[in-house]
Amino acid sequence: MLVIVTGVSGTGKTTLGSLLAEKLRLPFYDGDHFHPAENIAKMSAGHPLDDVDRIPWLQALADKLEESELKGGAVLACSALKNAYREKLSVSENLRWIHMIGDRDLIWDRMLARQNHYMKAGMLDSQIATWEKPLTGHELDISGTPEELFEESLNYLKSQPMKMKMGVIGMGVMGKSLALNLAEKGVPVSLYNRFVAGKEEGIALKVVDENPEFSNLLAFEDLQKFVDSLEKPRRILMMIPAGAAIDAQLDALIPILEKDDLVIDGGNSFYLDSDRRVARLHESGMHFLPMGVSGGEEGARKGPSIMPGGNAEGYAMVEDFLGRISAKDKNGKPCVTYVGPGGSGHFIKMVHNSIEYGEMQVLAELVHLLRFGFDCSAEQVSEIFSEWGKGELKSFLLEITADLLLFKENGDLLLDNILDQAGQKGTGAWSLTTALEYGIPYSPLAESVNARGVSGEKAMRVAFSQTFKHEFAKVEGALESWLPKIKAAYSLARIINHEVGFRLMKTVSDTKGWNLNFNEIARIWTNGCIIRSGLMETISSNYSDSVSFFETSGVKEQVISGRKDLAALVGLGLTHGFALPVMSAGINYLLGRITAESSASVIQAQRDYFGAHTYQRKDDPSGKFYHTNWI
Ligand code: 6PG
Repeated sequence: MLVIVTGVSGTGKTTLGSLLAEKLRLPFYDGDHFHPAENIAKMSAGHPLDDVDRIPWLQALADKLEESELKGGAVLACSALKNAYREKLSVSENLRWIHMIGDRDLIWDRMLARQNHYMKAGMLDSQIATWEKPLTGHELDISGTPEELFEESLNYLKSQPMKMKMGVIGMGVMGKSLALNLAEKGVPVSLYNRFVAGKEEGIALKVVDENPEFSNLLAFEDLQKFVDSLEKPRRILMMIPAGAAIDAQLDALIPILEKDDLVIDGGNSFYLDSDRRVARLHESGMHFLPMGVSGGEEGARKGPSIMPGGNAEGYAMVEDFLGRISAKDKNGKPCVTYVGPGGSGHFIKMVHNSIEYGEMQVLAELVHLLRFGFDCSAEQVSEIFSEWGKGELKSFLLEITADLLLFKENGDLLLDNILDQAGQKGTGAWSLTTALEYGIPYSPLAESVNARGVSGEKAMRVAFSQTFKHEFAKVEGALESWLPKIKAAYSLARIINHEVGFRLMKTVSDTKGWNLNFNEIARIWTNGCIIRSGLMETISSNYSDSVSFFETSGVKEQVISGRKDLAALVGLGLTHGFALPVMSAGINYLLGRITAESSASVIQAQRDYFGAHTYQRKDDPSGKFYHTNWI
């Protein structure tokens, strides 16, 4: 909250202002201290200031107020004699005015009693003559006792609650963490969580109670009151599950919102649903930002990577706030950018997650192979990963995998007690169906989705392992000789995962005319998000729209040198009983894409043989279609 206590000199603005600031836990500023030296000299010489003298002073005060609002508020004591001056200081809807009005003789006596002040008592008449009756705010009669003035001011301020800058709907892990992140960065936030008797009661209030260090949080269970608590145009961030819940929440919100209000969907919604919702809010004159947020609970609380798309005007309304709460890249720039129109923000988050699935699966495959093929202990695998993480292979997922391999519970490795059935919420599978729709080869990342599917069939796997006598075979020979190959294979598998994901993004961007900036997308993925890594740094500086990522410098060499290692590792794993779906799909994908003479001639011949589907000929560059009577 911003409070300005006004009045002519001697009315007690500084005394009241300081008391209010103390009570409200806000900084106090004395407007007199913002006068430039020339003004002070003029006043000390007994000359009143004119309007021109006051321009730089009012500007300095307005700047201070704006800066203070971003930090949570302030109390300012300032004469603000004319309505035009007050207008200049009206920097926010959250500004409250208290005007100290008093009898001239009372003020005169007080002024005579004052010492060490550059204002001469004789200037009072000039100030009183300049004073204009305020158009807004509370007029306080200064004849009361200091206690009475203080009480009356506080009551007035309580009757004029400030409007909050942002509203967050949904106090699940991500909603709560983002709300606290905003509050910590000086953004006053209204929190809303629905009321479900016996299940969800007082959830938002609990968040406020558990975080007493933040005085800029307000809790609501009533949607209308929540909306009313927000500054206009309103900014509302929904952090609720993707799907029908989003449409239901929009159904409830749209009738009580107004033109130019902004709604953000910060969940993992399907991008085509988001396209539709952008259009829906646009029809109502409102802005909608489908926004990917990555980084999990810790990221959301301390600095996520943020991927807003949709309405650019809406983005401008929250650009500053998002920049404040996001992670920062190596140059200190916020890991947030306006991605593009429609559902593009959710689209790139979907592909981010698909790459995330692939990266996780490759690590899972390596952990398994190293532990049960190469007979490494969990600690050894952790050590190998930590070592790799010190160099260019560094990544968040490698780091947490090294870490979880050391986690013990009652002396046992927790990992070995976790049921081997991987869950999924949709983004990986949606990426795969999108790739199929756009005809983009996607096998390595598709296999990460399929692997989760196969893992879910636990009972069948257990039964089949007996039926088909499956066992992991131990690898003969020293791990040391294999380690450099495993490292090269891992590095190449990661390159392939990223190439696959970025190629899908590029194709969809081109087809939909989104014109996405992939250097910038990779940049905002260099920190805060789950797939942050050294490789992402490389992509952010090397990505080119015209050249495949495989061909970029530093990557090309690995594609050439690492593919025998990846093939060898996959061969070794498969012959020793290890399913390595992403790594083997990766090497197949790569070989497929670098093979000049492929086996597709056979397919074309077969198609023409049984169905007269025709084929084109290598010896006829015209592209003409031929049919042969094969029988
Ligand atoms: C992130 C994560 C996050 C979440 C995904 C994964 O970037 O912070 O990707 O969005 O963990 O939804 O979900 P599933 O693995 O359950 O599909």
